[in-house]
Amino acid sequence: SQDDLAAGQKVFNRCQACHAVGENARNKSGPELNGIVGRPAGTAVNFNYSSAMQTAGAEGLVWTAEDLNAFLEAPKDKVPGTKMAFGGLKKQQDRDNLIAYLATFSAD
Ligand code: HEM
Repeated sequence: SQDDLAAGQKVFNRCQACHAVGENARNKSGPELNGIVGRPAGTAVNFNYSSAMQTAGAEGLVWTAEDLNAFLEAPKDKVPGTKMAFGGLKKQQDRDNLIAYLATFSAD
């Protein structure tokens, strides 16, 4: 719903120091996230990923809603060795709303 998307946008405030979405989104200390739902891991153009994330993508990790949910709950459990310095979102509702929000930004 629109309320869920608005809630997801608020959760994204916790990501914005490192990530951008939307028109003209650029890589920051983290990769831009346009089109992230369905995007293979480690493939934002010109972003310097950890070897852990590059390997995860090369081995077939694609950011489905399910895999994003796991990564956002506990990044270092889902991708050991990731350089994303973020403890995780503990609330399932926050993760659901955030993923719904992210899904509104396509790659182009
Ligand atoms: C990677 C989402 C918070 C820094 C990623 C990836 C996703 C993501 C989906 C993988 C991207 C890809 O494979 O292209 C989020 C969300 C956040 C969040 C939704 C908030 C809930 C943060 C914060 C930081 C950060 C706060 C900085 C302190 C990074 C970095 C990577 C990354 C450096 C690359 C990881 C690597 O190469 O191992 N993030 N992130 N993220 N994020 Fe975040």
